[in-house]
Amino acid sequence: MSNGSDVDSARDVTFAHSAGGGAAGGDADGSTRHFVDHAATTPLLPQAREAWLDASAVAGNPSSLHASGRAARRIVEQARESIADDLRTRPSAVVFTSGGTESDNLAVKGLLWARRARLGVADPIVAASAIEHHAVLDPVEWLGKHEGADVRWIPVDASGRVDVDFIDQLLSSAAERTALVSVMWANNEVGTVQPVREIAAACRSAGVPFHTDAVQALGQLPVDLSELGATAVTISGHKVGGPFGIGALIVDPYESLVAVSHGGGQERDIRSGTFDAPAAAAFAVAVHHAVEEQAAHAAHLRSLQIQLAEGIASVVPDAIINGPVVGDPATRLPGNVHASFPGAEGDALLMLLDAAGVDCSTGSACTAGVPEPSHVLLAMGVDERTARSSLRFSFGRTSTDEDVAAIIRALPGAVERARRAGSVSTDRYRAARENEVDR
Ligand SMILES: Cc1ncc(COP(=O)(O)O)c(C=O)c1O
Repeated sequence: MSNGSDVDSARDVTFAHSAGGGAAGGDADGSTRHFVDHAATTPLLPQAREAWLDASAVAGNPSSLHASGRAARRIVEQARESIADDLRTRPSAVVFTSGGTESDNLAVKGLLWARRARLGVADPIVAASAIEHHAVLDPVEWLGKHEGADVRWIPVDASGRVDVDFIDQLLSSAAERTALVSVMWANNEVGTVQPVREIAAACRSAGVPFHTDAVQALGQLPVDLSELGATAVTISGHKVGGPFGIGALIVDPYESLVAVSHGGGQERDIRSGTFDAPAAAAFAVAVHHAVEEQAAHAAHLRSLQIQLAEGIASVVPDAIINGPVVGDPATRLPGNVHASFPGAEGDALLMLLDAAGVDCSTGSACTAGVPEPSHVLLAMGVDERTARSSLRFSFGRTSTDEDVAAIIRALPGAVERARRAGSVSTDRYRAARENEVDR
């Protein structure tokens, strides 16, 4: 798959700013980019771009009744059918949204409100894993603060795997008060794959809705929704080679869900807003590609993952690889490598690697300019200092062995400099604290 012509043209578009010849040539000054941040977003597939361009030539609003409107509507409905077919669900289950964040919000709030009304309790329980993306974490917290929800955070072990016993216990003791369980299919920071089939089955037999965020799973893992049996599943376009600004919530057509935004009544009145036919067409192409190529794609990613993890261990022997066992397809996303470099700040490392042409991520959020340790690592029991020293590398369709080589070339120098900078700032910090005490 990595040798396909689509890959080359995707690189041409995405890396049009690259200068110099081969990747090995321009690394030192950072002029050749090595994009290893595919979990943040991955390049648009050329076939998806083509589909977008074709569909954008149709003038009508898909809700209009005239011929142009009907032509545009046909594009939306064909996209819906194609996605449903690829994910093995019904077209009526596919609700188009603006992306993963909106889908997660719609699932969490919409399911809680609908079920609260049915259960007739003022403080319904909402249970979510402690390592959810903020698109789930924050609406759950919001429901706790503003809607009286009784929030239960499902703990995880040191590899980031949720405690299934905790969920079983909740379901057996309080199913009639539980509005929703939400556990992501695979984690975006450390790549842990969750036992979502087991959790979906437990929720189903307890009669409790189950939502899973499959944004990172789609394309890297086999995703068959008929087999999963979840109530609602989140997917996003730009994570699978589709455009930004489109995603879907795949939601059981028989499950009631309260709308978050109101207006024209599109998408079964669950999600109002004018249909985006070109984006839907492009998204459907990307989903089709992601599903059809999944096994080959995963094998390609896994070989890069193993190479990089081994390379890191050899050039920075005290680095810690976080998350489940590298190379284990059952427990870890194949495109993810996450490591801590004790004594170095993740942000400093990121900037030093950036200067060397490597685009990666710390994986954690920044609050008012202050780097926060990742809530995912903290939930896994990693201490704050180590958590702050972490980087996430994530591979995708356009990744090559040369990307791994570039990271391994740049990493020892970057770690050494970041550690020196860290010890200088630690010394300064200590001196400042001592002065403070003296004064
Ligand atoms: C697991 C997960 N869920 C949700 C999102 C948000 O998706 P979107 O960027 O489409 O809003 C992301 C994006 O990083 C993600 O990784």
